[in-house]
This record gives sequence, structure tokens and C-alpha cells, in this order.
Amino acid sequence: MVLVGVAAKIYEATGMERWFLSLSRKYDSFETIYKLRHDLLDAHHLTNPRESTMVDEHYVSWLKEHPSALSSFQRMMNASKGKQIAIFLDYDGTLSPIVSDPERAFMSDQMRAAVRDVSKHFPTAIISGRSREKVYNFVKLNEVYYSGSHGMDIMGPTPKNKSCDDNYHHKTVNEEGNEFIVFQPAKDFLPEIQQMLIEMNERSKNIEGVAIEDNRFCLSVHYRHVKDEDYERLEQQVESMLVNHPEFHMTRGKKVLEIRPSIGWNKGHALEYLLDTLGFDDSKNVLPIYIGDDTTDEDAFKVLRERGEGYPILVSSKPRKTMAFHSLRDPSEVLSFLTRLGRWGAGNADSIQA
Ligand SMILES: *[C@@H]1O[C@H](CO)[C@@H](O)[C@H](O)[C@H]1NC(C)=O
Ligand SMILES: *[C@@H]1O[C@H](CO)[C@@H](O)[C@H](O)[C@H]1NC(C)=O
Ligand SMILES: [Mg+2]
Repeated sequence: MVLVGVAAKIYEATGMERWFLSLSRKYDSFETIYKLRHDLLDAHHLTNPRESTMVDEHYVSWLKEHPSALSSFQRMMNASKGKQIAIFLDYDGTLSPIVSDPERAFMSDQMRAAVRDVSKHFPTAIISGRSREKVYNFVKLNEVYYSGSHGMDIMGPTPKNKSCDDNYHHKTVNEEGNEFIVFQPAKDFLPEIQQMLIEMNERSKNIEGVAIEDNRFCLSVHYRHVKDEDYERLEQQVESMLVNHPEFHMTRGKKVLEIRPSIGWNKGHALEYLLDTLGFDDSKNVLPIYIGDDTTDEDAFKVLRERGEGYPILVSSKPRKTMAFHSLRDPSEVLSFLTRLGRWGAGNADSIQA
């Protein structure tokens, strides 16, 4: 113990800590720097003398590049004058906390009320990797649009000026009798996905802790409860299954492997499709706000950057490389943001219509 303490003192005195801080300011990949630092400390059997202050310093300097959407709220709303705000929200990790059992990722009543308030004033859509039905069952609001399976299954407004006479669109009516259009660009893949579901269950039955979630247009293989030594075997099973399904590929998420059809369709395309069907395509009068915490949300952030409109907001409590302009630390900050937005919408309802 004493030795470790002495070593930590030497570590500090030699200025290594300062060296890491200056490095991390120079490079944008915090993860790499953290890892390097961790490996070095490990190699010298040192404890992290100032882990918490390090993390805070990183976060604070990252915040300068991705300011909190809460502290920028007034500026954002000022910039929205004369524009129609539209809200796009991811579900897991954004509206609900990440939990170990994906079936129990419930959102709080407070969050539900905030989303409902927001949707009273602005068109609101939820874009998730889960199946559309599952997201609806978590959120249970009839006034918002839902897009499941990373945007491959969209229930949106009836397109205003667009032909939907094709295989991939069909009309549907919700519980309140409102008409919607369901758009499923990956519909042709459905039979093969069902076949893969059976195959994957078979292939993983000897690996303890695997949970396979049928997200309709993608399969999520959750491994949060799989032993470390079994992980590689699981990944190999997914990969060898994909050899026979060349039109699919695997992506990695938070403790999950996802099997998806290889079509050029992601959350970014879903966002564009929704903006389009809401009647905002090529319009300079829309101000989209997109809030999400996943790597798959980056596709949507990119769309907003490229269109040069709106606010991509990343939910993260750690510095992370992102296309988002702004950030929120966690779902509780998302709640504060949405609550303010709802209040602001109520106060400005008249001026928006004008
Ligand atoms: C927003 O607009 C109001 C009124 O026009 C102004 O007083 C305020 O300073 C502006 N705030 C920001 C942060 O731009
Ligand atoms: C639909 O689009 C056509 C041109 O593409 C335009 O002339 C027409 O006014 C549009 N209709 C509506 C209702 O926006
Ligand atoms: Mg998420």
C-alpha cells in the first residue's frame, strides 16, 4: 500500500499526469488516450491518482465543443423564430435508462408526460433500433410517430405530395382512428430474418446468458449476461451464420450484436423520410432537433449537419467523438430539456401559428 502511494507521488511529480492532459487536448480520441494512460499505469503497477478529476477535466473540455443543450436552450429557441421545430428522439439510453434486462427498459411517467407535452406543440417522432411495436408499448403515446428497427419500419403521417403506391407502404389506423402510413423499405427481407431467428436460437442454445431479441427487421443478440470466455464463441456463431446470408451484416452496439439487412437505410434515412413526409423537405422553415445516445444516431446527426439545419444532440456522460453539436449528460437531462421545450412551446403556441 505504502509503495503504491509512493509510486503515485512519483507519477504526479514527474508530470506524467500533465503530459496526459496535454495529449488529450491535442487529440480528439479520448478513448485512445485513456487506454494508453491505463496501460502505462498498469505496467508500472500504479493506481490512478486522480481518476475523477481527470474525467471531469476531459468532460469539461469536451463540453466546450459540445455545449450542453440545457445551457444553450435560450439561444436555440431564439434561432427557431419563424421556423417549425420538429423533435426526433431515440428511446434506449435517451428516454429510458440503460438497464440489464432489455425487456424492462421502461420510461418514467415524468418522461412520458414531458414527451406528450412536447408533441402537443411540435411534430415528434421516436426512432429506435427496437421493433416499432415494442417501442410503442414502452412509450404508449398516440400523438407521436414511431420508427422501429433503426428506421426500417416507420409509422408516419400520410405523405402529402408523394405517391405511396408501392409494395413498401401501406395504410393503417391507430387506436384513435387516425390514419397513418407504414413504410417498410426492408420488407422483402422479412422471411429470411425469421429463418435466421430460428437458426440463431439453435446456434446459441449451448451458450448461457444469450438473449435474442426479434426486432422484426433486425435481430439483436444481447450478450450482457454471457460469460467473457463464451463471447468469442457467440460472435463466431453469428459470423458463420451470416456466411449463408450474404445480404445481411453484423453491427456492434452496447452489449449487443445486431444482424441487419445490408440495405442503404439507417436512422438518418428515417429522419429524412419523416422530414419529407411531414412536408419539410427542402424547406428552410423547419428546425429539427434530434436527441440520441447511440452510434446509430450518428447517421441522423450527420444528416442534420449536411442539411445545415437543426440541432443534433448527443446524450453522453463521457467525452465521445460525435457529429452532434450539443450534448446532454443523461436521460435526466433529456427530461429537463424536454420539459423546458414543452413549456416554451406552450408559451409560444400563438406566435408559431402566426
Ligand atoms: C434571446 O432573445 C431575447 C429576446 O429577443 C434576448 O433578450 C436574449 O438575450 C436572447 N438570448 C440569447 C441567449 O441569445
Ligand atoms: C405537389 O407537387 C407538384 C409538383 O411536384 C406541385 O405542382 C403541387 O402544387 C404539389 N401539391 C401540393 C398539395 O403540395
Ligand atoms: Mg439509444
